[in-house]
Amino acid sequence: MNAEELRALYIEFFTSHGHAQIEGKSLIPENDPTVLFTTAGMHPLVPYLLGEEHPAGKRLVDYQKCIRTGDIDSVGDPSHLTFFEMLGNWSLGDYFKDGAIEMSFEFLTSPRWLGIPVEKIGVTVFEGEEGIPRDEEAAAAWRRMGIPEDRIRYLGRDDNWWGPAGTTGPCGPDSEMFIDMGKEPCGPGCGPGCPCGKWLEVWNDVFMQYNKNAQGEYIPLERTCVDTGMGIERTVTILNGKKSVYDTEIFTPIIAAVEKASEYVYGTDGEKDRSVRIICDHVRSAVFILGDPKAVSPSNVGAGYVLRRLIRRAVRHSRKLGMEGPLSPVARAVVEKFTGPYPELAENAAFIMEELDREGEKFLETLQKGEHEFQKLLPSLRKDPRGIMSGRLAFKLYDTYGFPIELTEELAFEQGLKVNREEFEEAFKKHQELSRAGSSQLFKGGLGDQGEMAVKYHTATHLLHKALKMVLGDHVAQRGSNITAERMRFDFSHGEPMSGEELRRVEALVNEQIRRDLPVTVEVMSLDAAKGSGAVALFGEKYESQVKVYTMGDFSREVCGGPHVEHTGVLGTFKIQKEQSSSAGIRRIRAVLT
Ligand code: ALA
Repeated sequence: MNAEELRALYIEFFTSHGHAQIEGKSLIPENDPTVLFTTAGMHPLVPYLLGEEHPAGKRLVDYQKCIRTGDIDSVGDPSHLTFFEMLGNWSLGDYFKDGAIEMSFEFLTSPRWLGIPVEKIGVTVFEGEEGIPRDEEAAAAWRRMGIPEDRIRYLGRDDNWWGPAGTTGPCGPDSEMFIDMGKEPCGPGCGPGCPCGKWLEVWNDVFMQYNKNAQGEYIPLERTCVDTGMGIERTVTILNGKKSVYDTEIFTPIIAAVEKASEYVYGTDGEKDRSVRIICDHVRSAVFILGDPKAVSPSNVGAGYVLRRLIRRAVRHSRKLGMEGPLSPVARAVVEKFTGPYPELAENAAFIMEELDREGEKFLETLQKGEHEFQKLLPSLRKDPRGIMSGRLAFKLYDTYGFPIELTEELAFEQGLKVNREEFEEAFKKHQELSRAGSSQLFKGGLGDQGEMAVKYHTATHLLHKALKMVLGDHVAQRGSNITAERMRFDFSHGEPMSGEELRRVEALVNEQIRRDLPVTVEVMSLDAAKGSGAVALFGEKYESQVKVYTMGDFSREVCGGPHVEHTGVLGTFKIQKEQSSSAGIRRIRAVLT
């Protein structure tokens, strides 16, 4: 079973069970300040999980590109990836635990679909905690499917709860499905969910029952939902009895491209194999980020910084393989492999290659600078009688020149020196703690925070979008927005800074619409009808055939998922705080409602 077959089967199964196939969305989330990338299939669906109607109906299915960089340092082992594809099906107030489990079971075990023997399937369900009961409903559904007691395990929050950790949004208990790989149990307590390698997870059914609010309270949802996720790479690996995702057809052509570019043969040297896997994973992620219609470029902040790290780490490992040339040949293999389900990759191939190789070159310059600085330090380093280079100095090279510690160690080693790694780690940790503190501030809005203020800001983005078009011209198109309870940010295409006069006019236009207290109404129609009626659709976003159109009086009309306020009068006063460049040809406005 290859990835393409799995993707097609999944979509076919759920459409045959009344689900509408919807388009996967951009990797760069819209209106969500809590994450840099789309991290799960449910992510773009948060407003619908919280109660908005979805134009495609109550049963949905899709495949979604996702990036999770939390484990970036583990990439290189057989299982970790920073980019993956997630298959998912949703019930928005339709079926709940029984329906979800019945369908999951049928898809996994029926010979018409995956045909996995029932004896190989084990599951976990939520064991409950104070205030939230043990999930007997899910367990009973699994029993009815014929899963015996010893393969149903109750586990706690760490394993069987899905939803925002420390932030806000839809959440609830989940039930995970595992395949028995046939190994001996690791001990008497071994069972589904045990990390020893006997049981591998293939699927997760989440039962969205609560909205966690900013006060940390769990408010029961009026309309319960189901959110499921099946990682394509992992499932293909398990279904084919492979030990590593990198041994599946998903990575074959990418590894081949690395082999060709480096003249290294995969499988001949453990350390180098790890570098090959890192290059494959990181280049694949970079290609998807750069190939996204809402692509970011490498930079020192946010998503751009993640991209930079991915590319630089790939370059560093390509050097370990003796690869002198650019990464673009590897990237081309990625584009070719994935452009079927993701046509945006071929469409944006030129941009992908250009940005990738430019960043690669920049990094090589950094490396040269770092090497140069190291040479300058050498005479004083040699004076240390024990041949030890201080960790603080190594950290300075890292911090000031972006010079990786491994390279400092390598250079030191060549000179018969050893880096005080402990001291380096200490300095590094301190630095990390500082930057984490910074980013948690950035994320305090919470996952899918659809609080009252966020909804107001969302409505304000529509008024601003239209006002910008009126003042600057029709070339203005929204290129991204980011909302917290405290402010909004709005990116749009426009070639030059706005004048003070233009800013004043835009602000006045928005405030005029607020004073007019325009009614905000929503209709569902076909995408063509929406465009025909003059509704603005977002640049680079993929839409379903049926969409929601929000109209604000006679002023603005946009294709949008919502939610919005009912009358513009409640927005207060709109104030632009800043207008600046965001990237080439894109301006960014920061504004508040007071
Ligand atoms: N949202 C759930 C997950 O990502 C399905 O595992």
